[in-house]
Amino acid sequence: MTTAYLNGDFLPLDQACVPVMDRGFLFGDGVYEVIPVYGGKLFRLAHHLKRLQKSLDAVRIANPLEVDAWESILTELAARNPGSDQAVYLQVTRGVAPRRDHAFPDATRPTVFAMSSPSAEPVDSTSMQGITAITLPDIRWQHCNIKAITLLPNVLLRQQAIDAGSVEAILLKDGYAIEGAASNVFIVKNGVLVTPPNGPALLPGITRDLILELAVANAIPFRESSIPDADLRGADEIWLTSSTREISPVTKLDDQPVGAGQPGPAWKTMIRLFQEYKERVRRGQAS
Ligand code: PDD
Repeated sequence: MTTAYLNGDFLPLDQACVPVMDRGFLFGDGVYEVIPVYGGKLFRLAHHLKRLQKSLDAVRIANPLEVDAWESILTELAARNPGSDQAVYLQVTRGVAPRRDHAFPDATRPTVFAMSSPSAEPVDSTSMQGITAITLPDIRWQHCNIKAITLLPNVLLRQQAIDAGSVEAILLKDGYAIEGAASNVFIVKNGVLVTPPNGPALLPGITRDLILELAVANAIPFRESSIPDADLRGADEIWLTSSTREISPVTKLDDQPVGAGQPGPAWKTMIRLFQEYKERVRRGQAS
């Protein structure tokens, strides 16, 4: 049985209940994180907790826990669940209010929930062969840098991709590729990695940032710049990155092959560097 954490207690997931007056339930009024666990170690925890703090600040919810408390709760949660590789999900909502009113209630206690699930092996034969994606208009709001639980546009976009026989949607806004419905986007052209710069239009992905760090450390040329639709379609490689997906090569976009229609050489190099980094985390030599 999966163990969850709710407001101070560890308990079986199916016994974790939140009152219907919780602002998360009524308004989607909360923020979240997804943190990979490799070899029982929380991957890039400090980065995730920093981003959590930024999301909380942006929606004006006081962080209910100190960094050390987050670390001990999430570490214990991972230890209480089976498997050494997991994905920890946490969310903080504005809490339970006495009545439904859009305005912030006075002095509610934020609801803290976390659970963990075994991670699917992301670099499996499917992603080795590459995934298919479609482009869709970005119908989301103007604060996509906040990791808000209010995900209805992302849900609809991802489902539209699945209904079209694809795995993920790449979102276009004003003629530029922004990110995936639940991932960041990279293209490779003539050996140079390109990913859009961080800003309000996209989530500052932890996986994205690690890829850029690995590029710096290994002298792989990269640019943080906007990706016009034409460059997306003319790319040698397209990757989609996230904490659960790691780095997926996109080999078909809108039914057209991407580059040679196979995972490309730049992806093979980066996924190797990424796996090596994960190994260092497992051995406690990196975090
Ligand atoms: N989503 N962009 C969006 C819109 C995302 O939802 C995600 C991740 C990312 C990648 O961020 P990171 O590398 O920090 O996981 C980019 C998570 C995994 C989710 O919603 O389940």
